[in-house]
Amino acid sequence: MDARWSPDSWRRAEARQMPAWPDPARAAAVEAELRSFPPLVFAGEARALTERLAQVAEGRAFLLQGGDCAESFAEFHPNTIRDTFRVILQMAVVLTFGSHMPVVKVGRMAGQFAKPRSSPTEEQGGISLPSYRGDIVNDIAFDPVARVPDPERQKRAYMQAAATLNLLRAFAQGGYANLHQVHRWNLDFMGRSPWARRYAEVADRIGEALAFMEACGVSPETTPQLQGTEFYTSHEALLLGFEEALTRQDSLTGEWYDTSAHMLWIGDRTRFPGSAHVEFLRGVQNPIGIKLGPSATPDELLYLLDVLNPANRPGRVTLITRFGADRVERHLPPLVRAVVREGRCVVWSCDPMHGNTVKSASGLKTRPFERILAEVRQVFAVHRAEGTHPGGIHVEMTGQNVTECTGGAIAVTDEVLADRYHTHCDPRLNAAQALELAFLLAEELAAERRRSPAAAA
Ligand code: PEP
Ligand code: CO
Repeated sequence: MDARWSPDSWRRAEARQMPAWPDPARAAAVEAELRSFPPLVFAGEARALTERLAQVAEGRAFLLQGGDCAESFAEFHPNTIRDTFRVILQMAVVLTFGSHMPVVKVGRMAGQFAKPRSSPTEEQGGISLPSYRGDIVNDIAFDPVARVPDPERQKRAYMQAAATLNLLRAFAQGGYANLHQVHRWNLDFMGRSPWARRYAEVADRIGEALAFMEACGVSPETTPQLQGTEFYTSHEALLLGFEEALTRQDSLTGEWYDTSAHMLWIGDRTRFPGSAHVEFLRGVQNPIGIKLGPSATPDELLYLLDVLNPANRPGRVTLITRFGADRVERHLPPLVRAVVREGRCVVWSCDPMHGNTVKSASGLKTRPFERILAEVRQVFAVHRAEGTHPGGIHVEMTGQNVTECTGGAIAVTDEVLADRYHTHCDPRLNAAQALELAFLLAEELAAERRRSPAAAA
């Protein structure tokens, strides 16, 4: 790998999973226009997130990263954004309560548009068309015109990301996320779930603690942390022309930041040695995620850490493992041991979604909730055995009452999957399933705290 990096040095490396724009000159013109658009996030915010993640790496905080598999133009609505944000807040409350640790909240939101695909084409009824690659590239409709990659879509994606981020900033800091609102975050349709009742109990206890603290002089007026929350954005850095166009030099430090989101990750299909995606991300200073599936070897991982984090800066790299419930025991320990042996500082996060996708009887892609929980439990068991901190969770979820993953306390059965199956890509946890998962995680984290009380003190 050439030592010199520039925002476009990825163009000399092998770029997989990128669309073949039919008119490259048009794509270049759109990218030139995007270069003149304002940054979506600031370098200082990305640095603040790196600091928060450094705390996670040191075992003193927990990372909660979640949102759509693919955001879409069709589902763009303030209520959708609000409901996902609200469930993330609820999950964070439950996790903080169980772990006694700060929870770093990162949305797969405000820019999660581009999708890698297992196959470049999709067959239906004997017809073959280019695969859908996310709304930033082409249209999901199975139609020859709709599937042609259209670079103009990048501008619409940018505008939607900007508006989404604007609303998220308002929710996070404008009063909605005030801890005194903790009761109001419960969603109506969750009423039937036993976990909604558990949540109301937690909210009651938090309410009592807040009243006690207020009597002692600690209120939102005196303690700004109670008024709002920090909320960060992330997406897979897949569409490199778009990411390059939003990469800017920080005037304070002279360093480069990809200002399309606070955190960017590299997908399991684009982390191979020599990848253009690795080349691009090595030069931007944002915190970086790396997805690791069953094909990842310890040597490959150490190579990636050398390239992406040569100075071993805490908080720079989050490893997001996604093996599938039955493969964690075989694949995770060798990676953990290699990282520990080499003294590399990382956040270990668990994506229990992408290794547990199955076809339902009706032919829909789904994920059984009990397999998702099983992967989480196994990942915690491995980290316990290896003495490492299970630092985070990475989930595909929505605040809507969808039926995409089977199981959960209000059981989604195979038969009802089609009722509210709205995802543009992979099946997401619905709000009740996401909350249920948070309670399981809180239990695991509480057990970790009891074993090593110093870490969470
Ligand atoms: C995703 O997060 O939506 C994704 C495609 O993940 P992975 O790269 O782990 O397959
Ligand atoms: Co996905």
